[in-house]
Amino acid sequence: MGNCGTREENAVVAAHAQVQQLHLLQHSAKNALADRKHNRTFSDISDHSTPGKIEDTKDISIYNNVIAFTLFELETITKSFRADYVLGEGGFGTVYKGYIDENVRVGLKSLPVAVKVLNKDGHQGHREWLTEVNFLGQLRHPNLVKLIGYCCEDDHRLLVYEFMFRGSLENHLFRKTASPLPWATRMSIALGAAKGLACLHNAERPVIYRDFKTSNILLDSDYTAKLSDFGLAKAGPEGDETHVSTRVMGTYGYAAPEYVMTGTVLIL
Ligand SMILES: Nc1ncnc2c1ncn2[C@@H]1O[C@H](COP(=O)(O)OP(=O)(O)OP(=O)(O)O)[C@@H](O)[C@H]1O
Ligand SMILES: [Mg+2]
Repeated sequence: MGNCGTREENAVVAAHAQVQQLHLLQHSAKNALADRKHNRTFSDISDHSTPGKIEDTKDISIYNNVIAFTLFELETITKSFRADYVLGEGGFGTVYKGYIDENVRVGLKSLPVAVKVLNKDGHQGHREWLTEVNFLGQLRHPNLVKLIGYCCEDDHRLLVYEFMFRGSLENHLFRKTASPLPWATRMSIALGAAKGLACLHNAERPVIYRDFKTSNILLDSDYTAKLSDFGLAKAGPEGDETHVSTRVMGTYGYAAPEYVMTGTVLIL
């Protein structure tokens, strides 16, 4: 898995792929549609298709390209999660803007970031957080959002991403205040998103994303499209396998009807 980056990155990925596979080989026998309101991701923490035990957290340290932040550090960069630092809110929790640099920790590169904080009363939890860290901790590609780091302290679960200057494609398409995107830009966004998906599907161990929608396509300052939100991702078929069977997850209106009906996903 994770065969999307440079040779150097792939070497890191290959070294850790075996551990990752152990986590991801568990299957769920049941297929059911989790209840989900509005247009947000539906998920179910009882799904065993993704790693979920708290002790799995110790394995994260093997991803040497992601930083383990303390809660204090993330409180510092978001000014204690101040309301005017909020970028948006989703099924996982609230997303804040922050800035990391040498003042936060010696040796850190100066970088604007987005900090996603798990809502402890929400539908998602440790399982989605860990799945996100496991997948994005290994995958690197210009059309996948970069996971800078994470925080796991007591029951706090946070994710730190590269900051995407133009926010989500959804905001550009549906916000009344946003000016319409030119067609050339729309085409290049569609191409970028498709390249992100192709990277996942062509990885050594294919990854099935399961949450492809405009709010999960983030745009950089030059409108480069990057896929985000891997909390529902799942390892795809391997070797002679033609498909994997899963509990149905995703977002109503975006998930493929045949997948919602059968719980079977194929990579063609
Ligand atoms: N890396 C990022 N850089 C800049 N803004 C971001 C970043 N990640 C998320 N956001 C902002 O936060 C909003 C909420 O994102 P989030 O992924 O939590 O929810 P969502 O995609 O709207 O819903 P869902 O929970 O169904 O995925 C996004 O629409 C976007 O505006
Ligand atoms: Mg999202």
